[in-house]
Amino acid sequence: MVQKKILQEAFRSAGPAVNLYLRLKLKICPLLEVETHVPAGGHVVDLGCGNGLFAALLLLGSSARRVTGYDLDRSKLRVAERLRRRNGWERAEFHEADIVRMDPPRADVLTLIDVLYLIPRPGQEDVLRKCARALPRGGTLLVKEMDTRPRWKYAWNWFQETVSVRVVGFTLGRKFFFRPRREFETLLRSLGFSVETVPLDRGQIHPHILYVCRKV
Ligand SMILES: C[S@@+](CC[C@H](N)C(=O)[O-])C[C@H]1O[C@@H](n2cnc3c(N)ncnc32)[C@H](O)[C@@H]1O
Repeated sequence: MVQKKILQEAFRSAGPAVNLYLRLKLKICPLLEVETHVPAGGHVVDLGCGNGLFAALLLLGSSARRVTGYDLDRSKLRVAERLRRRNGWERAEFHEADIVRMDPPRADVLTLIDVLYLIPRPGQEDVLRKCARALPRGGTLLVKEMDTRPRWKYAWNWFQETVSVRVVGFTLGRKFFFRPRREFETLLRSLGFSVETVPLDRGQIHPHILYVCRKV
């Protein structure tokens, strides 16, 4: 698991606002643990990469990974690009794209970290279908989302997302499209994945959940 300190060091150059974001995010989201589920080598494509936080974890977690990130938010991509340049991450690149419209490139691993809930359901299905096509047999897809259970954690998450997306405007979007765990599992299996579900909400106020999928 990547040390928090090493990640904070890499983010130091990104300015106080991004640093504060990093500290808050690491407190409320088990991203360090999610990284341990990503294979240690190969080309990882991070769909909805935001400001490059998870890409940074992937790069710091293994020197055998190459990462390409896509997002439609230019201001977040600018932060990702600044981090890439200042840290000399030659194994990373970031591009502007709408992941609902694009075809992901062939990759060993695809990651969707807290992204699908911002996309209407038919779009989610399209994205996942295209992910299945882009992976070789045995390739890995990681989907990190929020579960709809337990109810109180789901309600808290809804409130917090409403503040950060609709009030503060921290993330582009207006509505949320969370899916219950069983629905995700059924959908992912119907697309040709084996699915291991990892609840990550222990000790957390948010109902974090991770689907570790392998193309069969
Ligand atoms: C909650 S943030 C998560 C960012 C990053 N994955 C992380 O964990 O730090 C959701 C991200 O998904 C991006 N996003 C939402 N819909 C998208 C779409 N259709 N195409 C590309 N990016 C999208 C947003 O711009 C935002 O950066």
